Amino acid sequence: MSSIAVIGTGYVGLVSGACLADFGNTVVCMDTDGKKIEALKKGEIPIYEPGIEDIVSRNVAAGRLSFSTDPALAIKGADAVFIAVGTPPADDGSADLKYVESAARSVARNLEGYVVVVDKSTVPVGTARKVKSWIDEELSLRGVKREFDVVSNPEFLREGSAVQDFTHPDRVVIGAESDRAKKLMKDVYRVLYLNETPYIETNLETAEMIKYASNAFLSVKITFINEVANLCEKAGANVQDVARAMGKDGRIGSKFLHSGPGYGGSCFPKDTLAMARTGRDFGEPMSIVETTIEANERQKARMVVKIEKGIGGLEGKTVAILGLAFKPNTDDMREAPAIAICLGLASGGAKIRACDPVAGKEAAWRLASIKDSIYFARDEYDAIQGADAVVIVTEWNQYRNLDLAKVKTLLSSPNFFDLRNIYKRSDLEAMGFRYFAVGQ
Ligand SMILES: NC(=O)c1ccc[n+]([C@@H]2O[C@H](COP(=O)([O-])OP(=O)(O)OC[C@H]3O[C@@H](n4cnc5c(N)ncnc54)[C@H](O)[C@@H]3O)[C@@H](O)[C@H]2O)c1
Repeated sequence: MSSIAVIGTGYVGLVSGACLADFGNTVVCMDTDGKKIEALKKGEIPIYEPGIEDIVSRNVAAGRLSFSTDPALAIKGADAVFIAVGTPPADDGSADLKYVESAARSVARNLEGYVVVVDKSTVPVGTARKVKSWIDEELSLRGVKREFDVVSNPEFLREGSAVQDFTHPDRVVIGAESDRAKKLMKDVYRVLYLNETPYIETNLETAEMIKYASNAFLSVKITFINEVANLCEKAGANVQDVARAMGKDGRIGSKFLHSGPGYGGSCFPKDTLAMARTGRDFGEPMSIVETTIEANERQKARMVVKIEKGIGGLEGKTVAILGLAFKPNTDDMREAPAIAICLGLASGGAKIRACDPVAGKEAAWRLASIKDSIYFARDEYDAIQGADAVVIVTEWNQYRNLDLAKVKTLLSSPNFFDLRNIYKRSDLEAMGFRYFAVGQ
C-alpha cells in the first residue's frame, strides 16, 4: 500500500483522497484554502456529496486520512502525489493551468526521494510534459537532482455519485512512460486492479485525450437529443418516445439521451471549450464540438423564451424555479442552466422565487447580480406561492413527486414548465395545468 499526497481538496481531490485511503493507502489531502482544511479537520465536509461523510470519518478514524495546508508535510515521503486542483477556462477557452503549475512547482520544492506525480485534474494534451518541465525547472533552481515520473490518470467520477463512481469505475486510465510508475499505480489502485476493473495503460497524450474525448462525446450526445427535441416541438413528435426507441439500439445506448435545458456543471462546459481550443491549436478543428458549445448556449436561452411565450411576457410576472444545482445530489452550481435561466428571466422583468435542497448558499452569491429580483424560498411550496408559473430546472427527487393539487392552489396561474420531462402531460392537463415540456 502506498503513501499518497493529494494536492487540491475539492470535489475530486476530497473524493479521490478519501477513497484511496479506503483502498488501504495512507493519504494526506492538502489544500491552500485554510478554511476548507480547518473544516475538514473538525469533521465538517465542505461539499454536498452523498456518502462522502461516512468514508471520510471512517478513514480519519483508522488513521489513513488526514488534512493539511502544508505542502511539505503532504509531499515529503509520499510515493505518489496526485494533482487534483481546478482547471477553469481561461478567457480564450483553453484550460487555465496556473493551479496545476503552482501545484507541480510546490511538489518540486518539497521532493526528497523518487515520486510519481499524478495528473488527476482534467488537463489538455501535452500537460503532463509541461508538469515534468515545471518540476525539472524548480529542481534545477534548488540545485538538486531527484527522480520522478509524471502519470496522467484522468478522473471520470460524476458529482452526486462520486464515491460510488470512484470505487466502482467503468475503467481506470493510466498514461505512463516508465515501468516503475506503472507498477506504483497498480499498487495504488490494487483493490480495483484485483477486482478486474478495466485497467487501460496508454502513453501520456492518449490518457489526456481520453478524458476530453469522453466528456466532449457526452456533451455532443446531450446536445444532439436537445436539438432533436426542438425539432420534435415544431414537427409534432415526442422526443421521449424518440429517445426511448433510439436508446434500444445497442450502438446508440439509452444514456445521455434526456432532453432538457442544456448541459452545465463544472466539467462539460469547460472541457468542450478546452477541447475545441486544443483542436484549433493543432490545426485540426473539432467542428462537432464547436457546434455543440454554441447549440448548448442556445438551448439555455431557449428555455427563457419558452417561459416568456408560455406566460405572455415576463414583465411584472413571478416565476418559481425548482432546482438550482446543475444536477440533483450536488450543491455545485458551476455553469448550471439555472443561472442563465434566472438571469434571463430577471432581465426580462420577472421576479423569481427559487429553491434548491442544498444549493441555496452557492446560488446566493452566484446570483448576487439579481438579488433584488430573486427570493430564496424555504422549500418548493414556498417558492410556488403566488407565482405565475413553476419551472422545474433540476430534477431532484422531491420535485418528481410534488403534491400537484397543492401546487395548483398555490400558483396564481397554473403554468407548469417541466424542463426535465419528469411529469406526464396527460396527468397535468387533466388537473387543469398548462403543461410545457422539452420536445413534446
Ligand atoms: N467535479 C467533477 O465532477 C470532476 C470530475 C472529473 C474531473 N474533474 C476535474 O478535476 C479537477 C478538480 O475539479 P474539482 O471540481 O475538484 O475542483 P474544485 O474547485 O472543487 O477544487 C479544487 C481545489 O484545489 C485547491 N487548490 C488550487 N490550487 C491549489 C494549490 N496550488 N495547492 C493546493 N490546493 C490548491 C482549491 O483551493 C480547491 O479546493 C478539474 O480539473 C476538473 O475538471 C472534476
